[in-house]
Amino acid sequence: MSDILVTGATGFVGGYLVDHLLQHSNDEIHCLARSREHEPAGARIFNQLNRILDSAAEFEDVSYRRAFLRARVHVIEGDVRQSGLGINSSVDTTRFREVWHVASLTDFLVSKRARLFETNLEGGRQVLRFVSENAIPLCNYVSTAFVAGTRSGEIDATAYDGRFPPNNPYEESKRAMEDEILQAAARGRFAYRIFRPAVVVGHSRTGKPDPNSRGLYGFLALALSLKREILKTRPQHFIENKLRVVVEDNHNLNLVPVDQVVSQMAEIASVPQSVNRIYHIVARDGFHAQCYLDILREVLDVDVEFTTIKNQFNAVDYMFERQSARYQCYLRNSKSFDLAQTDCFVKSSQDQYRITRDVWRLLLLKFREQWDMAFLGKSRAGAP
Ligand SMILES: NC(=O)c1ccc[n+]([C@@H]2O[C@H](COP(=O)([O-])OP(=O)(O)OC[C@H]3O[C@@H](n4cnc5c(N)ncnc54)[C@H](OP(=O)(O)O)[C@@H]3O)[C@@H](O)[C@H]2O)c1
Repeated sequence: MSDILVTGATGFVGGYLVDHLLQHSNDEIHCLARSREHEPAGARIFNQLNRILDSAAEFEDVSYRRAFLRARVHVIEGDVRQSGLGINSSVDTTRFREVWHVASLTDFLVSKRARLFETNLEGGRQVLRFVSENAIPLCNYVSTAFVAGTRSGEIDATAYDGRFPPNNPYEESKRAMEDEILQAAARGRFAYRIFRPAVVVGHSRTGKPDPNSRGLYGFLALALSLKREILKTRPQHFIENKLRVVVEDNHNLNLVPVDQVVSQMAEIASVPQSVNRIYHIVARDGFHAQCYLDILREVLDVDVEFTTIKNQFNAVDYMFERQSARYQCYLRNSKSFDLAQTDCFVKSSQDQYRITRDVWRLLLLKFREQWDMAFLGKSRAGAP
């Protein structure tokens, strides 16, 4: 049994990671979290973890997981951007044997550059300083497979190749943080693991999406918001027109369910010899959304068409292209990620995580349900 510090547990990946560690270890999990104006850090953590358990409860008895949650999750108020992570001096910070640094700002907008660097790089440096000062032997860092930037084709699980520029300040900040870890580890300060997930989507069984609609969900949310706006003045538009989106021919998008991400990271981390390496946490086969366009059309209620040229674009297509500009880099430069390192330590079968036609439909339906509730205040049954 050890004491582990996790950052980012109020978020999508961090929440599932804590739930997974509770089930598959007997560690005490200390979650560093910020309070919000009307919601203290403790309530935020327990609400997030209880939401995950509520969705799992549809499939299995989760009473033992709720008991673990109450007994082994401890909340520490803090902020990664602050010195000492803003942790109150009364907390014994020397007890931690391992840190999972999951917290990050995940926004692709150029206008967020300063905030991205403040959280992802300066915050990350504070975490590394905290690790060193408290003599914590090990830091697991959740990066992204997209540190590969504009590079396409086969991507090695080694330091990113600087000849290929990043697509946005998010990728740039994640690259900079990987550099920091590799440099600090080279000075012998601590052992590390760098995990690089691809595009993280909802749970493969429950379909529960990222509540904050980021990544793929951000792109889908923009399409639904655009549709809502256009229908206000042109109710016939999507009956008479397709929504055309430029996507690289035969594009290979790497989608990875959140339960696969956390189970693979934890499986690798359970082997002490796995330290000081970089791991891709990705689907073995890329996902070809064009093969499942019928499901996208059905769930969005929009006749989406992927195209490589804009010669048939109308004003709404151009408007969507402008609004979704931050996501377009993920619709080209197809990548396949080297899994040799990951395969050395992940022995469990990964078949259950394949995004089949049915899983894709479930993921989209659950996203649509969430979007309808958030923006229309009603369930899908009542949606237009
Ligand atoms: N989602 C993906 O598709 C994807 C893909 C590849 C890699 N990743 C990586 O996976 C990790 C988790 O991503 P996610 O999707 O779970 O993101 P998320 O849902 O946005 O969660 C981010 C977490 O970071 C916390 N955080 C942000 N700034 C903080 C600060 N200053 N101090 C303390 N905590 C702070 C947030 O806390 P608050 O709730 O207080 O804001 C939240 O708990 C990130 O490192 C991301 O780069 C994600």
